[in-house]
Amino acid sequence: MGFVMVFIVTAWFGNPLPVLGFDQSPVQPIAFPHTAHAGSEPLVNTDGSPKLDADGNQLTGIGVDCTFCHRTVTSMNAAGIPPVETCVTCHRVIGATDSEPLTLLRTIGLGEDPGPIQWKRVHRLPDHVRFVHEPHIRFLTAAGNTDVIANRDEAAILAGTQMDGSVVASVTCSTCHGDIKAQEQVAQVEPLKMGQCVDCHRKHDAPTDCATCHF
Ligand code: HEC
Ligand code: HEC
Ligand code: HEC
Ligand code: HEC
Ligand code: HEC
Repeated sequence: MGFVMVFIVTAWFGNPLPVLGFDQSPVQPIAFPHTAHAGSEPLVNTDGSPKLDADGNQLTGIGVDCTFCHRTVTSMNAAGIPPVETCVTCHRVIGATDSEPLTLLRTIGLGEDPGPIQWKRVHRLPDHVRFVHEPHIRFLTAAGNTDVIANRDEAAILAGTQMDGSVVASVTCSTCHGDIKAQEQVAQVEPLKMGQCVDCHRKHDAPTDCATCHF
């Protein structure tokens, strides 16, 4: 009985539900906007007004590929979060000098001892579950599998389709993460519960025995 209780409690707190007031979209130590980096739409301020540079020109997202920052997503279990050095290569010079989040970034990144930024995890499965990105990206990018991509951005998929019918990795992320490039602050939009994982595994002949996903 005690063992079962411990299991349920750890499973619950490992991935709490928002009904209890847990936040699915934590405020990050530096307000990092995917819109400005991965998106390519005109940027807006929090009050909805157009975001302008120092000369009064409209700022637009720079459309950096997801894999530029999440470098290990096509090869490993974890996608990886870029080190502060990656940010500073651009932000040493790019962006307003009076920007609060960028001042904080430059302080951390250009300090004598640039420590890691303590990003808060948004997507986190309970500790008893194993997830690996690599086979999913390999499967979803393969020629003939684009129909499986969920929360689709048709234009991006079309632009990301290669001669052999396969697609680039960055158009497949929406399947489980939604439209990240449109998010000012990352939120989890898919439930990513066992049912969703097993459904897709069943449909596409992926393994469904417990040990595939459970330690
Ligand atoms: C390829 C260059 C590039 C890289 C790498 C980059 N950024 Fe940016 N970043 C930009 C551009 C361009 C903007 C939009 C200009 C602006 O908002 O002033 C921007 C905007 C921002 C803003 C919003 C600034 C504001 O005043 O609202 C923050 C915060 C930010 N970046 C943080 C980061 C962090 C953290 C990293 C590393 C994980 C990073 N950036 C990596 C180019 C880059
Ligand atoms: C300039 C670097 C950069 C680019 C480009 C970028 N990201 Fe990120 N991403 C980050 C950083 C830094 C974080 C951690 C802070 C946060 O959660 O906002 C992050 C967080 C995330 C998370 C949440 C991780 C968690 O804790 O669960 C997801 C999912 C994600 N990115 C997906 C994407 C996708 C999909 C794209 C392409 C459309 C993309 N990212 C492009 C830097 C980047
Ligand atoms: C099949 C579903 C699925 C797809 C497709 C997917 N992810 Fe994830 N991603 C997850 C899950 C589930 C987690 C949480 C993993 C955990 O808690 O162990 C996660 C976590 C992350 C994280 C935070 C932790 C880490 O791994 O570093 C980032 C960043 C991320 N994903 C980026 C991406 C990017 C970029 C893509 C597209 C190239 C992508 N993901 C495609 C399901 C997916
Ligand atoms: C979009 C469909 C899809 C979704 C959603 C999905 N998977 Fe998968 N998964 C696959 C496919 C297909 C494979 C097999 C890829 C291959 O051919 O190696 C796979 C492989 C795996 C593997 C590796 C199995 C092995 O050892 O070879 C693990 C672990 C896994 N998935 C866990 C998960 C978990 C956990 C979730 C839910 C958070 C999830 N998957 C959601 C399609 C999916
Ligand atoms: C394709 C991946 C996958 C497979 C296969 C799988 N599970 Fe799960 N399981 C998950 C994920 C993801 C969660 C976490 C759900 C959450 O966040 O609550 C989970 C959660 C659980 C939980 C905790 C209760 C809950 O709903 O949160 C139990 C118990 C469980 N699984 C048992 C099993 C058993 C028994 C099997 C074999 C018949 C199995 N699982 C096969 C992915 C999988």
